[in-house]
Amino acid sequence: MAHIAVSNKVSVVVPVGGDSARRKSVFKTHNISFGDKSWAPVLALDLKSRNTSWRNQNIVCMSVQQVGRSKAAVSPLELDDARDPPLNIYKPKEPYTATIVSVERLVGPKAPGETCHIVIDHGGNVPYWEGQSYGVIPPGENPKKPGTPHNVRLYSIASTRYGDSFDGKTASLCVRRAVYYDPETGREDSSKNGICSNFLCNSKPGDKVKITGPAGKTMLLPEDDPNVTHIMIATGTGVAPYRGYLRRMFMESVPKFKFGGLAWLFLGVANTDSLLYDDEFSKYLHDYPDQFRYDKVLSREEKNKSGGKMYVQDKIEEYSDEIFKLLDSGAHIYFCGLKGMMPGIQETLKRVAERRGESWTEKLSKLKKNKQWHVEVY
Ligand code: FAD
Ligand code: A2P
Repeated sequence: MAHIAVSNKVSVVVPVGGDSARRKSVFKTHNISFGDKSWAPVLALDLKSRNTSWRNQNIVCMSVQQVGRSKAAVSPLELDDARDPPLNIYKPKEPYTATIVSVERLVGPKAPGETCHIVIDHGGNVPYWEGQSYGVIPPGENPKKPGTPHNVRLYSIASTRYGDSFDGKTASLCVRRAVYYDPETGREDSSKNGICSNFLCNSKPGDKVKITGPAGKTMLLPEDDPNVTHIMIATGTGVAPYRGYLRRMFMESVPKFKFGGLAWLFLGVANTDSLLYDDEFSKYLHDYPDQFRYDKVLSREEKNKSGGKMYVQDKIEEYSDEIFKLLDSGAHIYFCGLKGMMPGIQETLKRVAERRGESWTEKLSKLKKNKQWHVEVY
């Protein structure tokens, strides 16, 4: 078994426009020991990042590509020993002070909005399972309660328990900057932008960040049956927990978790430039075509059959017969992202059930009772 250790700070400055000092592309890899022979990190240029006006961000392509299908070795393997997930090790009154490792813009110039991948070093002190969230307390005072800290904001963790460096010491978040547009002028009013998402997206390596958690049980992967089907529906940053699941299923070599089932991801974003972690997902599709399905839904580039915006629920309707059959044979279904998608999804599923002569109310309560139905929307 050959192990390749890759230095954890490879920086390449690439001019992508006029102001090359500010608009730099940084390609980072991490200390990775690769199980088996043929893994090699490939540093790839993200072509989306040309001709853009970035906000003091490093532009990055997230891909560390594999050659072949061998998986990454992870440690410490004890992280897979516990029977129950860790919960609320750190609480808002006594948060853990972690350190920002990197902040990377994930989307291209034509994305309406900005989403960043943020790696946080918790030193192994705030362990978590895939599907859980961290709380973040932004620095400063709560304007509604002067003298007290800001309220905690929750963020789904986008890495596996081993983190992006496979050493159990980091957690990654996928954060969309909450930008406030004045309804009258249509212009951004940065004084009203989201406090925590701005803090996270603006942070720099070495900055301190107060975290709480880990929190949440609804999005945990059911680990009792390694051959079960997982149908994952996401809008935007709702993809975060699925990135963790999929790395665990297809990227990491975890002796206690050998995935033999099917994972089917529906990812709804605005346009091609808004796709998140597309390189990773495309790689799984290439390497595991029998175990992974990946449907992208681009609301501003595709139309549904009524001529409206294409949303994840439209794609679900397209595959409804298959989805219903999978659910009938025990598949788990997950929804994560915009709260606003749930009414549309429920309506679609109800319509499909009726067309099939089934009662959606009964079906839904059965799915909930069997713990096949997982929702985390915000
Ligand atoms: P806040 O400061 O709380 O502001 C909220 C909104 O109000 C913003 O849009 C802001 O522009 C607007 N606003 C501010 N001032 C005014 C004003 N005067 N008038 C009108 N509007 C105003 N988010 C992610 O990006 N990624 C995730 O993975 C993620 N996971 C989550 C998981 C869970 C379980 C939950 C509950 C939420 C999750 N969120 C996630 C959302 C996240 O917790 C925050 O709510 C989000 O980042 C906004 O927080 P903020 O502090 O940036 O905005
Ligand atoms: P749109 O904004 O075009 O209406 P992103 O974070 O990249 O914007 O992704 C969020 C995606 O969710 C977008 O494609 C957005 O479409 C879409 N979306 C917005 N509202 C709903 C909804 N009610 N149901 C499903 N998808 C939605």
